[in-house]
Amino acid sequence: MDFNIEWHDRLGSTNASMRERFYAPGAMASGLVIAAREQTNGRGRQDRKWLSSPHTNLCFSLFLKTDADLIKVPSLTMATALGVTELLNSKGIRSAPKWPNDVLVAEKKICGILSERVEQASDHGIIVGVGLNINMSSEEADIIDRPATSMLIESGKAYDPGQVLEDLLPQLEYWMGKWATDGFPAIRPIWTEKAGPIGKKLSVHDGDVRKTGRLAGYGEHGELLLETASGLETIWSGEVS
Ligand code: BTN
Repeated sequence: MDFNIEWHDRLGSTNASMRERFYAPGAMASGLVIAAREQTNGRGRQDRKWLSSPHTNLCFSLFLKTDADLIKVPSLTMATALGVTELLNSKGIRSAPKWPNDVLVAEKKICGILSERVEQASDHGIIVGVGLNINMSSEEADIIDRPATSMLIESGKAYDPGQVLEDLLPQLEYWMGKWATDGFPAIRPIWTEKAGPIGKKLSVHDGDVRKTGRLAGYGEHGELLLETASGLETIWSGEVS
């Protein structure tokens, strides 16, 4: 994939900018990356806000041209999480992906991913938005309503967000490439190894519904398989704890 990186000083949301670009006249090529030094209206899953101080963290969206169905979108998020995990591990920060869209370090969130499918006439694609906490201080992390961390907090070192993006893109190319060629089954063993272990006790909340059981594995599209007292449940979305 050829990446074309556009840096902006300030945007509302890189996902929203990418979306606008997609629906504007003219075709958009795979590999376009829109990154913002400051994001004023960052969005997370379930309409949450994504907070990031200016010039501190990495906020970007990547466009992948694909006619993959909606059912395949969650597993692209998972492929992205593996890429982020590999990058962090290569820098000595021991991290693990968490279903469905996070990367954690010792149970604290360091990265969130928001993927959206877009479609117009015969053009289809997926926008993958990545928020990676780079130079967030522990004071800033404490303001966030859930346990959060950053590369700075974990390693004691400050990083250049532009360089982190350059280092991350080859990882994303590798994992997204596997996803595009062979689908989630190609990355399932490594995902399961890193996000598992199988048999782990889990509680999954989706709205008012809470299910508890043990992790039985992941389905063909990355759906979570939970062994509950009433049998095997297939879970497509929710928060795991
Ligand atoms: C989540 O954990 O809920 C997903 C967070 C995704 C945040 C990123 S930051 C870059 C991109 N633009 C957005 O508005 N959101 C994503």
